[in-house]
Amino acid sequence: MRIKIADLFRTEPINTEVTVKGWVRAFRNNQFIALSDGSCPQQLQVVVDFENTDPAILERIKYGAAIGARGMLLESQGKGQRVEVKASEITIYGDCNPEVFPLQPKKQSLEFLRENAHLRFRTNTFGALFRLRHALAFAIHKFFNDRGFVYLHTPVITASDAEGAGEMFRVTTLPFEGTPRNEQGEVDFSQDFFGRATNLTVSGQLEAELGAMALGEVYTFGPTFRAENSNTTRHLAEFWMIEPEVAFNDLHDNMDLAEEMLKYVISYALEHCADDLKILEDRLLEEEKSKPQDQRSEMALTEKLRFVTDNAFERLTYTEAINILKNSNPNKKGKFQYSVEGWGTDLQSEHERYLVEKHFKKPVILTNYPAAIKAFYMRQDEPQEGVPGPTVSAMDILFPGIGEIVGGSQREERLSRLEQRMTEMHIPHEELYWYLDTRRFGTCPHAGFGLGFERLVLFVSGMTNIRDVIAFPRFPGNADF
Ligand code: 4AD
Ligand code: MG
Repeated sequence: MRIKIADLFRTEPINTEVTVKGWVRAFRNNQFIALSDGSCPQQLQVVVDFENTDPAILERIKYGAAIGARGMLLESQGKGQRVEVKASEITIYGDCNPEVFPLQPKKQSLEFLRENAHLRFRTNTFGALFRLRHALAFAIHKFFNDRGFVYLHTPVITASDAEGAGEMFRVTTLPFEGTPRNEQGEVDFSQDFFGRATNLTVSGQLEAELGAMALGEVYTFGPTFRAENSNTTRHLAEFWMIEPEVAFNDLHDNMDLAEEMLKYVISYALEHCADDLKILEDRLLEEEKSKPQDQRSEMALTEKLRFVTDNAFERLTYTEAINILKNSNPNKKGKFQYSVEGWGTDLQSEHERYLVEKHFKKPVILTNYPAAIKAFYMRQDEPQEGVPGPTVSAMDILFPGIGEIVGGSQREERLSRLEQRMTEMHIPHEELYWYLDTRRFGTCPHAGFGLGFERLVLFVSGMTNIRDVIAFPRFPGNADF
């Protein structure tokens, strides 16, 4: 019976016979195999009795090859490991020719590995990364399950543009040649598969709200698609989003929930992924060595994570943030690419990063943004002294090195206010009759938010490019694998 290396290290008693299977990471002196099976970051040393092993087998023990080994588990004589397996039998499952295998047993750049994303799971960094990503996904489900939330699967194909931003991928089976058209010459989507125009979802929120209006507390966790042409280290065209929605919550409850969830999942990773985080922390330290001193982060990865779990997030309004930015040194000295003049415009990422990394030096929750720069469904605030224009009960959570990690709001639950806003923003009421029905029948205050899963993984792993925290990234010009 095969035993996983993680279990072997944890539980297997010395002097028992074991069978292990995995991939060769190194083979030294025709004798010492470093074997990985993906169950943990550590490799198992398998010692080959080369004098009594068929030379034809020895010849095939190469970096990358899939092998099995049967033998006694013994206390190790050598340095660097507590136990090792003295092999009595080696099985070769899959050869790996080092002459043509793209990976080499040495440090390889993240760019090179991105081009070889089909193989990069086999490196220490990506092994650690994907075990961590799994643990974070599990922790999110555990967090919500423990609190009685219902996991709602919202559709991937939809006819609605939840964010009203129009950055959608069309879904169609209409032919490109001889596309059916109406009398005005427009594409006739009534002849399409669904009898109407459809696209990939940009958010499950509107459907989540329908669920919350009966189940009370729901969350989604699914793939989300945005056809925005953003070639940055923070954007993907396909990413995973977690969207809780809670009946009877207001903006403050919403902030509390988001802060509690983030702290919970980060603590979970610190507790359950210590070995993998060590690998990622060392990788980051190595990467930072190539940066000038003043651009290196002051804290090591796990220290930074603990700092987030141990300190309250800073909460302030958009209006307060604008005042801080207006009076900030970089703004006065013209150091911002976009100078902060007046109230009402959206913050650029340089402004968000200034607030988080320089001014407060911790995660920040910004609230009550100008209505004009936010989605139609956000709850309209009462006019306030010192606030130049109409605002909504929005909240964005900004993280160091990441910028926006969460976006959410209290929802506009008053039918007439919601309809008025939709009219102003040219959103057809008929198409969203089902959404408006929640406000017609038993409406109530409620709130929710969206957490970008890859931005969370980016933060916790200390990686620097979002394309390195999802197995097969989708971005403009790339849909390989
Ligand atoms: O701020 P966004 O667009 O909010 C919504 O979609 C709301 N419907 C959420 C809600 O209230 N239920 O997106 C939410 C989060 C962002 O804060 C960001 O973390 C992530 O989703 N995100 C992206 N992540 C990677 N690539 C992209 N292109 C992203 N766009 C948004
Ligand atoms: Mg947002």
